[in-house]
Amino acid sequence: MSGKDKLRKFRENETFECLIQPTTEEVFRKDYKTKGKWNSDYFKNDAPIVLELGCGKGEYTVALSQKSPDKNFIGVDIKGARLWKGAKFATENNLPNVMFLRTRIEFIESIFAENEVSEIWVTFADPQIKNARKRLTSPLFLDRYKKFLKKGGILHLKTDSQLLHEYTLEVLPENGFTILEHNNDIYGSGYADEVLSIKTFYESQYLAKGMPITYLKARLEADNQ
Ligand SMILES: C[S@@+](CC[C@H](N)C(=O)[O-])C[C@H]1O[C@@H](n2cnc3c(N)ncnc32)[C@H](O)[C@@H]1O
Repeated sequence: MSGKDKLRKFRENETFECLIQPTTEEVFRKDYKTKGKWNSDYFKNDAPIVLELGCGKGEYTVALSQKSPDKNFIGVDIKGARLWKGAKFATENNLPNVMFLRTRIEFIESIFAENEVSEIWVTFADPQIKNARKRLTSPLFLDRYKKFLKKGGILHLKTDSQLLHEYTLEVLPENGFTILEHNNDIYGSGYADEVLSIKTFYESQYLAKGMPITYLKARLEADNQ
């Protein structure tokens, strides 16, 4: 993508009502205006909120929103040129239950309030081979999610990285989650149902290289905050 293309997308991003782009100053160690207000002021309904973290172009957010009109979906990523794709599609197709949020996930507890979120999808996150703390499923990040994920809320991880899959299977039970499902080759084993068969941009590339795709699903238990 040329620099000119990026700038055009950044400019268009400013026009999308479904895209929220806080500045660092607005979220660094302080509450952002959306906190606790996503249902009342943004979606204007009481439906459960589902996040996709590191959503890239937002394939899961968009596809899930169409399959589940009874829930609200928010795709989160720091890359504006990628979010543009999902936000453009949601805008052009008037999807009422989709929003996108451009921020670093490190700031996410400033943006969502306690019990505001029912489900989290982490799709093809960087496995951060050398720095486990930076993994989106490290205890550091799980502690952030636990501040706004409801008790009984669900965390899904879909990844090509066996390392991230195994690591997360180990870390979740030590941090208040119960593993409900896991599979380390969802297509090869016939495990992928309609929802798990939604393919992200990165996933299609990994599949073209013949890499197995893994999935796990876990529940946040009530007594482990
Ligand atoms: C490998 S890509 C996967 C994108 C998409 N889920 C897919 O499967 O096509 C990882 C994404 O996570 C985003 N990301 C990584 N770390 C992040 C962070 N700390 N805060 C926000 N976004 C992050 C990157 O910008 C990138 O778009």
